[in-house]
Amino acid sequence: MPVHHLEETFQQTVDAEIKIEAKDWMPEAYRKTNLRQISQHAHSEVVGMLPEGNWITRAPSLKRKAILIAKVQDEAGHGLYLYSAAETLGMSRDQMIADLHSGKAKYSSIFNYPTLTWADMGAIGWLVDGAAILNQVMLCRTSYGPYARAMVRICKEESFHQRQGFEALLVLSKGTQEQRAMCQDAINRWWWPSLMMFGPRDSESTNSDQSMKWKIKRKTNDELRQNFVDMIAQQVKLLGMTLPDPDLKWNEARGHYDFGEINWDEFWNVVKGNGPCNRQRLQARINAHEEGAWVREAAVAYAQKQSAKQKKVA
Ligand SMILES: [Fe+2]
Ligand SMILES: [Fe+2]
Repeated sequence: MPVHHLEETFQQTVDAEIKIEAKDWMPEAYRKTNLRQISQHAHSEVVGMLPEGNWITRAPSLKRKAILIAKVQDEAGHGLYLYSAAETLGMSRDQMIADLHSGKAKYSSIFNYPTLTWADMGAIGWLVDGAAILNQVMLCRTSYGPYARAMVRICKEESFHQRQGFEALLVLSKGTQEQRAMCQDAINRWWWPSLMMFGPRDSESTNSDQSMKWKIKRKTNDELRQNFVDMIAQQVKLLGMTLPDPDLKWNEARGHYDFGEINWDEFWNVVKGNGPCNRQRLQARINAHEEGAWVREAAVAYAQKQSAKQKKVA
């Protein structure tokens, strides 16, 4: 079939809400966009373990420690589902990880900010996982089958992440003067970076139109960001805290909250690798990979032993 016919059939499949599967014909740009997006998402899950992993030994109680360990493990699992989904598009996991470690592949900039106090664990769960959920709920209906299916399970775990974060802040917000101040300070530091997680404004976003047409995305960056602001502006009242934005105000006519301008210089600076923790995170990730080499080797040796055994039996 000539390519333009294949493209037409492909678009009809997408329009009919039928999932695209790994072995289906797809435009090269669709494959590449998905591969970039899914692998970047996988990297974000795995790098996201680092700032929180730092607090496991410092969690204030056994209960908090158990919750935090469970959350960090969930993120590892998310990384694994997503690497598997990305592999169906023709790149090996080893290659993806090599690209992450060389700096060629990106991960979410949010993880390049430091976690200074225990309240940051709450703020990350509530704000960072909260922002991620909005994006991920949309992705449960993305057109590429393996990605959409991975997101269904991930979303269930993400809602636990957000609740535990909010609950940790709720406890602090009812605590001593010092605890309340720590809670407010964490919210102040994580608010703007969380808004940046939705990416550049629609007018600046280069891939947006095509991704909407292919139903890779179903909402634009600005729509998702607005949903997030509307949700958090309400929830913050329950904490008795404030968001650090003097322009935040309910707009009756729009039926949404208005909010201030993001510092886009800061956004691009962190994307380009100059955030407060870019170098530190990447180095920690490389170290973890190297220190875990013996585990991978042991797993391969075990798998070989098992398959040799099975061959003998057969
Ligand atoms: Fe996750
Ligand atoms: Fe999460």
